[in-house]
Amino acid sequence: MVKTYVDKVIGDLYVLRVDDEETKYFESLWYIPEGITYNAYLLIGDKVVLFDGWKSRYSDLLINELSKVIDPKDIDYIVVHHMEQDHSGSLPKVLKANEFRAMVLGHPMVRGMVESFYGIKPKFRVVKDGDVLDLGKYSLRFAYTPWLHWPETIVTYIKELSTLISCDVFGGYSIPKALYDNELTSDELSKYLDYARKYVITVVGHYKDYIVKGIEKLRSLNVDIKVIAPAHGLLWRGSPEVIVSKYVEWARGVPKDRKVTVIYDSMYGYVEEAIKVVIEELSKLGIDVKVYAFTENSRPAIGDVLSDVTDSSSLIIGVSTYEGEAFPEIVRMANLIAMKAAFSKPVAIITAYGWGGMATKQITDILTKAGYEVIKTIEFKGKPDEQTIRELRGLAKELVS
Ligand SMILES: Cc1cc2nc3c(=O)[nH]c(=O)nc-3n(C[C@H](O)[C@H](O)[C@H](O)COP(=O)(O)O)c2cc1C
Repeated sequence: MVKTYVDKVIGDLYVLRVDDEETKYFESLWYIPEGITYNAYLLIGDKVVLFDGWKSRYSDLLINELSKVIDPKDIDYIVVHHMEQDHSGSLPKVLKANEFRAMVLGHPMVRGMVESFYGIKPKFRVVKDGDVLDLGKYSLRFAYTPWLHWPETIVTYIKELSTLISCDVFGGYSIPKALYDNELTSDELSKYLDYARKYVITVVGHYKDYIVKGIEKLRSLNVDIKVIAPAHGLLWRGSPEVIVSKYVEWARGVPKDRKVTVIYDSMYGYVEEAIKVVIEELSKLGIDVKVYAFTENSRPAIGDVLSDVTDSSSLIIGVSTYEGEAFPEIVRMANLIAMKAAFSKPVAIITAYGWGGMATKQITDILTKAGYEVIKTIEFKGKPDEQTIRELRGLAKELVS
């Protein structure tokens, strides 16, 4: 049974949330055992406005939930903030239930995308950056927020409600047990923020500089934001400033004090032996160590790795040599870090080889191009010898000094 919520957020603004516990890999990439929610919004003033929607598989359910509050035929406007199908997938069926009466509002790119994604041509009006649509009791102010998450993405500010409907920005993974931030305990909130960090870096990490720019732009509008209503996860009506400052921190990769993420592969145990020495030393120094091992018995979720990289002070990569190159899973991980979490953090690379190879250089090249600073490399042949063990012990101190 799919769980849904319809609730009055503030004034005449409703949230319509559906809990997706079915999607195993969001965007077919990110493992989300924690699930995800899709949040659409409905404003019932002198005009009825629907903001976004749900994934297509929940279209009928959305129409059902909408019908509890209004007749879908009475929707006057549908604001499409973003065309990714987790928000826009329900558009064709909602428009059908609405008998195509509503005017779709969006960025100029949205018109063509609606047609090419769904083969429909609804009534469409372009909104320009900064446009205000006066609807009597309420007014909608639109702001372009390019690359948060696609080029066509916009957000809406409702002045009379001091509310920002922010689409992907300020969202998070997981299925919070409540709708609003101030209904969770501080432990639950802190767990949610971990999921939100994972969401930011996996979904918008490639465009993280736009997060900072987008937030600066919203601040420059000088508007009072009491409620932040994103398309995924918690709505913020207790402390919206928390999620704003967290988003800036994550986009900048601000490190937690003394947190190190260790990522390694080991086919037969020698890299692991070396890594264990460093972990032991780091632990003695009281460092918070997150370890992700690609071995014959373990495959970490790549989204979790990226999430921990985001707020680490430094990284350690342990890699074996495989067919003249770095082990493929570590190459993939390094490329994902470069694509999604390109920060300027220190990295140490520990490489094992049997007879020779390019593994250290390969990983160094990928990470330095992305902005990382490789401060130390340790290479050893076969099993780590005593000299290597001494170097590994020294590495922990070098990394955190
Ligand atoms: C399938 C396979 C391919 C390998 N290819 C190379 C190679 O191209 N060059 C090299 O120097 N060592 C190669 N090695 C040797 C390993 O890199 C070396 O034994 C290393 O110590 C493995 O670390 P591990 O024990 O943590 O798996 C290969 C090993 C395996 C099992």
